[in-house]
Amino acid sequence: MQKGIIQNSRILIVDDQAANIQLLERILKGAGYQHLTSLMDSRKVLTVFSEIHPDLVALDWRMPNMDGLSVLKQLRSRVPAGDFVPTLILTADNSRAARQEALSAGAKDFLNKPLDVSETLLRIYNLLETRWLHVELKRHNDTLEQRVRERTQELERAQLEILQRLAMAAEYRDDCTGQHAQRVGRLSAVLGRAVGLSAHEVELLRLAAPLHDVGKIGIPDGILLKPAKLTSQEYAEIKKHTDIGRIILSGSDFPILQMAERIALYHHERWDGSGYNGLAGEAIPIEARIVSIADVYDVVTHERPYKEAQSPADALALLQQESGKQFDPNLVRIAVELNLPQDLALLSQALDQTLEPQVDSVLQPSL
Ligand SMILES: [Fe+2]
Repeated sequence: MQKGIIQNSRILIVDDQAANIQLLERILKGAGYQHLTSLMDSRKVLTVFSEIHPDLVALDWRMPNMDGLSVLKQLRSRVPAGDFVPTLILTADNSRAARQEALSAGAKDFLNKPLDVSETLLRIYNLLETRWLHVELKRHNDTLEQRVRERTQELERAQLEILQRLAMAAEYRDDCTGQHAQRVGRLSAVLGRAVGLSAHEVELLRLAAPLHDVGKIGIPDGILLKPAKLTSQEYAEIKKHTDIGRIILSGSDFPILQMAERIALYHHERWDGSGYNGLAGEAIPIEARIVSIADVYDVVTHERPYKEAQSPADALALLQQESGKQFDPNLVRIAVELNLPQDLALLSQALDQTLEPQVDSVLQPSL
């Protein structure tokens, strides 16, 4: 350790007297120090400090132009928080006042002139030993922080994957690929961005919307998959999927699940108030209004066992026909203006690029 510290430490010497510099250099070189930089003009300290990143600064206290105190103050602003670059003051002034002034400005130790060789080496070595312990500790902390970050990201990825798989489980009987749920998420995000939601809300929406029908898990196959027309009693059973979804998703501290709960409960509301729970207009949460459009658009434009896929133009016509009745007229207008689906592919790509890095933050619990 001792040899390593002596061989590797960079020392910056600042003194306006060439003879003082030469003496200190001789002492240090004699002890094996190899990386010495010396400076007579204290006004250049900051520049040189930034260039060589010294492990210790040996600083004369009384200098013309810029004295040791001014240099110390400036150096303090250059040393990053949590870093430790000791400054050793070289002074002939042994007074209590001078020591207090230097210490309060951030100096770590003193050497009295004329220099005593063994004391000089011991004090410099002690300061450097502390410096390298700090460096080692910081490196260790950085490694630990990096590991915690990686583990946290891994955990968040796992949580997101679980959400996706939960959405897929809900869709499995209709669509065993789970693609409908993911498309609804993507289309909802596109609409959410167009309507002016924040990037964070859009990302939450993209991830929460696929869970809109999670409550279908609780609906019996005989009703959910019935090929014939439903009786009014069976229809009442189907309608329970919104409340089952709410129950499955309720009580979470995570905003993504809180949003998913609102979507699951309210995605069958109608703008005119004639939906499942009778909410009308803007009383229906915006994310549920968006998902209800995305859901219908995607169902209409894709094939199902009981129906053919219709064209995007047909789907948009249906949205316009239901504008102000089933759907929020403002959102319908925006969907039409977006020129779905031509813009959808481009917008989805753009969303992927801008939103992916934020995935880590959407799983933070709300406080
Ligand atoms: Fe539904």
